[in-house]
Amino acid sequence: MKQLKLAVLISGSGTNLQALIDACADADYPAQISLVISNKENADGLNRAKKVGIQTMIIRHTDFTERDKFDQALTEALESAKVDLICLAGFMRILGHSFVNRWRDRLINIHPALLPAFKGLHTHKRALEAGVRITGCTVHYVSTEVDVGPIVAQAAVLVMPNDTEECLAKRVLEQEHRIYPLAVELIARGQVQIYGKCTQITGTRKPQSASLINPQLQKDK
Ligand code: GRF
Repeated sequence: MKQLKLAVLISGSGTNLQALIDACADADYPAQISLVISNKENADGLNRAKKVGIQTMIIRHTDFTERDKFDQALTEALESAKVDLICLAGFMRILGHSFVNRWRDRLINIHPALLPAFKGLHTHKRALEAGVRITGCTVHYVSTEVDVGPIVAQAAVLVMPNDTEECLAKRVLEQEHRIYPLAVELIARGQVQIYGKCTQITGTRKPQSASLINPQLQKDK
């Protein structure tokens, strides 16, 4: 079985990276992580990668005066590692149009809200302020517009009356850790076709739609 070669780009704690590392530990999982890049040298996620012997690189955005030069350094590292798919996992830099176009259809991101709702930062705070009853997380292909692009997988999370930003974030993060490995697996198995702004999931091994129903939502049925 050909395994998809992944690069994971991080800036922080790397719990989504950890979810991907754990998934890749299964010999039947159709992907492996070849490279982890952080734009911050103190990102905890770097230690998660080192612990299991994955190659890490630090490319500091602060070392570059122009965004394009930083993006170019990323592209050079990704090209020399010959990666098939780039997974943004808490990577806190906006990537320029030429980078996104260079890696179009091979660049995915995880966002802590049900896109197209709550693009951008502070998603849980804004979800609470808006009084939504359901929020969640989304894995999507990256396009030149921030937090926009064909959706691969989503999971829903109920908002509870006494939720704080922290406890909501924790429950959403648990779902992120389920859908990121699922989305990568669907892509690696060739089950995700991009049609314009949307994707279609094919095959019978996984649900027709990659929406994961959180058990919390099913239990009241
Ligand atoms: C996650 O909530 C992800 O959705 C967002 O940044 C956070 C990264 O968390 N893009 P971690 O570094 O994977 O723990």
